[in-house]
Amino acid sequence: MSLAIALTKGRLEKKAVEMLEKSGYGVESLKDKGRALIFQDAKKDIRYFLAKPNDVITYVEHGVADIGIVGKDTLMEGSSGYYELLDLKTGICRFILAGMPDHNPLLMDGHIKIGSKYPNVTADYFHRLGKEVEIIKIDGSVELGPVLGLCDGIVDIMETGTTLRENGLKVFDTVCPISARVIANKVSFKMKRKEIDALIDDLKKAREEEC
Ligand code: PRP
Repeated sequence: MSLAIALTKGRLEKKAVEMLEKSGYGVESLKDKGRALIFQDAKKDIRYFLAKPNDVITYVEHGVADIGIVGKDTLMEGSSGYYELLDLKTGICRFILAGMPDHNPLLMDGHIKIGSKYPNVTADYFHRLGKEVEIIKIDGSVELGPVLGLCDGIVDIMETGTTLRENGLKVFDTVCPISARVIANKVSFKMKRKEIDALIDDLKKAREEEC
């Protein structure tokens, strides 16, 4: 049976394609893709398509994609109507709490305001710390928040640390590590088990070679 795989556009895309190539899949067309969004594997009965992180989950939950490759950050923030099958151990970064160097939100007594693209992750983190928090949803360039005084700190993704450094922000805590994950539609996981197991085995081998 054929497989449809939703890949996350952008940051994770190159890493997922590299991993698939290393696993022996025919992903050449994805490396020189222009503006195309749908691709046929040159070696296997697999169709790939590129989608925004949250949409990868949507396509998998609705069964349009049997498999999705998406960051744990997106999975932690979103719904969970899928199976998470594998940690690819690529696209590694972490969720951090950051802010202005002399203003650690964790040391504040009063009302704490945190800006984030990830309100659920932020709420969960402060809940675990037993601290009340007001969360301000920001869609991008989150680092602006504390610099301009919108909030006391941010919960965001840090990969290289360059964005924080270049905007004069300091990391106060690590919320949790993040990496790329393989998820599966629940029905596909039953109906296409052989194909999905083969894909997971191939990806595991590629992952082990990398480590
Ligand atoms: C993410 C994140 C940080 C940055 C971290 O933003 O929100 O801003 O990357 O990466 P670094 O530690 O390597 O500097 P993204 O590039 O996705 O853009 P956005 O701010 O528009 O969401």
